[in-house]
Order: sequence, then C-alpha cells, then structure tokens
Amino acid sequence: MALWGGRFQGEPSALFKLFNDSLPVDYRLFEQDIQGSMAWADAIASVGIISRDECAELKQALQQLLADVQHQPEIIVASGAEDIHSFVESALIAKVGDLGKKLHTGRSRNDQVATDLKLWCQSEGSALIVRLQQLIQALLALAERELDAVMPGYTHLQRAQPVTFGHWALAYVEMFERDIGRLQDALTRANTCPLGAGALAGTAYQIDRHALAAALNFDSPTLNSLDSVSDRDHVIEIASASSISMMHLSRMAEDLIFFNSGEANFISLSDQVTSGSSLMPQKKNPDALELIRGKTGRVYGSLMAILTTMKALPLAYNKDMQEDKEGLFDLVDSWAICLDMAALALSGLKVNRDNAYKAAQQGYANATELADYLVAKGMPFREAHHVVGEVVVYAIGNNQAIEELSVEQFQGFASVISQDVYQHLTIEACLAKRDVLGGTAIKQVQFALAAKRPK
Ligand code: ARG
Repeated sequence: MALWGGRFQGEPSALFKLFNDSLPVDYRLFEQDIQGSMAWADAIASVGIISRDECAELKQALQQLLADVQHQPEIIVASGAEDIHSFVESALIAKVGDLGKKLHTGRSRNDQVATDLKLWCQSEGSALIVRLQQLIQALLALAERELDAVMPGYTHLQRAQPVTFGHWALAYVEMFERDIGRLQDALTRANTCPLGAGALAGTAYQIDRHALAAALNFDSPTLNSLDSVSDRDHVIEIASASSISMMHLSRMAEDLIFFNSGEANFISLSDQVTSGSSLMPQKKNPDALELIRGKTGRVYGSLMAILTTMKALPLAYNKDMQEDKEGLFDLVDSWAICLDMAALALSGLKVNRDNAYKAAQQGYANATELADYLVAKGMPFREAHHVVGEVVVYAIGNNQAIEELSVEQFQGFASVISQDVYQHLTIEACLAKRDVLGGTAIKQVQFALAAKRPK
C-alpha cells in the first residue's frame, strides 16, 4: 500500500506505478534507511513525540527487519513497495502496528532520501578509497619489480626517449593518488546531515539537529532546509571524481594494451585477465583492459546524465531527482570493479625485458643525447638540434642507428665530434642523465619509490 492514499480516490495505473516506483533501484539504500530511521526514532523521542519505551520498541523492530532482510534479501523487491522508504515503513507497521505509523512524524521522504544517499556515499566512498590504495600498492610492487627494466618512452606514439618501466608505473601512482584526494574532498563536503530539513522548510519539531547529525556519524547538520533536500552536488562530485579516475584507468589500460600487442611485445599479460578467440586458436586478447577502457564511457555517461537532470531544476525537491541513483550506483560499481581488475592485471604482468630494451634502442631515441653532447662541446642548442636532425636523416638512409656511425661519418656533420661521443649514446647514459627530481634515472625512480612507501 502506498504511504499517501488519503487524498486519492482512484488507483494509480499499473503503468504509472511501474514508471514511478524506485524500489528496483533504491533497495540498495536499505541499511542506510534503517540507520536513519533509528536515529530519527531517538530524535522524536527526545522531543516527546514518542515515549522512550515506544522508541525502544521501534528500534528493536527496525533491528529485526534488518536481520530479516539479511536472511532473505529478496523480500524487499518482492514487496512491490513504491520505494525503499515505503518498504521500511510498511514492514515496520506490519511488525509493531500503529506505533510504526508514528515514526514518520516530522520527517519527509525528501530529507530521508537525501540522508540515506549521503550515508551510502560515505560508506561506498571509503570502500573505493581502499580499492584505490590497493591499486596503488599493485603499481608500487610492479615499479619495484621492474624498476630498471628499460623501454621506449613515447610522445605522439613515436619513440621519444628511453624510460624505465618503474618510472611508467609511478606515473600512474601520481594519478591515482590525486583521484583519492578528489574523492576525499567530495566526501568531506558531503559530510553533512540533511535529516530534520523536512519536506523543504524544516521540521516543525524542536529536534537537536547537531545531535542527530552526530548520531549518524556526520560532521555536522546541513544549514538550509531548501538546499538540504535539493542538493545532489555530492552525487555529481563523486561522478566527476570517478570519471577522472576512469580516464586514468583507461589511459593505463590503453598503454598496457599497446605494450602487450604483437607489434610492441614489451609485456605479457597473465592468463588470469585475458581470453581467447572462438575462431583463432593463437589469440590471447587483453579483454580485461579493453573492458576498463570501455566502461569509462558509461561512467562519463552517468556524470552527464546527473548534470543534465539537475540542470534548471527549481527549488526544492522534484521527482526528477529520483533519477540520481541508478547512474550513481552503476558508476560506483563500474569504478570499483575496474580498480580491482586493473590491480589484478598489473600483479600478473610480465615485462619482456629484452624486447623492451631493444625497442628503446631503436627509433633514434638517443638523438637528444647527441645534441646535448654537441652543446657540451660549445655548440648552441638550436644549431645542435639541426645538425642532429641531419645525422638522423643520414642514418635512416643508411639503415644505421646513431651509435653505429663511425667518427668519420659523424665528423661529416660536426667536426667537434670525437671518439668520446659513444659513451653518451648508450641507453644507460640516456637514463643516468635524467637524474633530476621526477626524472627517469634509476636512482631517481628508487628515490620516488621509497618516498611512496610507508616510513
Ligand atoms: N523515491 C524518492 C527518490 O528517490 C524518494 C523521495 C520521494 N519524495 C516525494 N516527495 N515524492 O527521490
């Protein structure tokens, strides 16, 4: 039975009920609705709306309902209630009769759903932070294992300069650390309790909203009732933080898909995260990583959906806002599983060191070193850049690497080049020279890794 039958003479159509009900989505707020209801029972007992005994009885029944659902989760959706709040209230009335009808005194589903959703965001948000930390641990372990494995670094997807695999992994650690920061910021701003805002104007009872907020582990109560029931910034901020993080996951997935390709062959993914082809027996496809890249699209979609739903909504609550949950739940689920999957893919991957090293030797990745060498011999950098460009064209024409040219060949381009040039053209020299904070020299990567480890 709906909670609002009195004013109505006719029944809602079956189509309207199907369209309007949110239980198939918001059943996930069950525990938060129980938690909020218990705190509300205390709040209305404290102002004498119900007695202490009635309060105890209500809370016990709510506790019992929690146990019932844990035992038989399917009873929620099977109830056919309009939404999770209606389900909890009806189930409570079924347990304690008329006393159950008192719980909603001074409360509205508008402040109730806002509270439930914020509680849900806090608990899921903390779980997401743990997952992000686990992914960072997987990257740190990989960075440690492959600290000095050499591979080509790219710009424009052209081999640019050699880097180490450890350096690559630590780049993503920086990104996921910022993602944690963004999520924490969003959760801090969302740490306010809307309960007591009523439908829109504030509850008519002298509830201590500070005590109520504290009982629900919020930092503080919200300060304006209109804002309290109509604010969904926290949903948007979480969607935004997750979209940015999915963008990072997707870039990492794309790097690994490329590194794993037959063309690059810098890494091999483990059998745990790859699948085969139904037709081509030789194939081992990077499906886990492709799905991470693919799911990024649906997370962005949820961000756009909630932004668009909220746009131009008049104050205060509007039913449009019921559309906030499906996208939020989906993006949180998608983000969570992608974080776990990425950690699994990283922990099992093998670096094909010889291949990656050979690739770093090709593509004239030491051209900058030759230019720096000329600079050290007194040539202005711009001129050195030009000379080395000519050397590269010549070497490509001759099908030689730069370091394969003889001193005589070099001297055709710049007379200052002598035998000592070769020591500057090795991969080891290229790496060792990037010995600056944030650089790819092995010493710097070790330093960066140590800084990430707990002291
Ligand atoms: N199911 C609704 C939602 O998710 C709960 C609030 C309903 N409030 C109302 N006044 N109809 O938004």
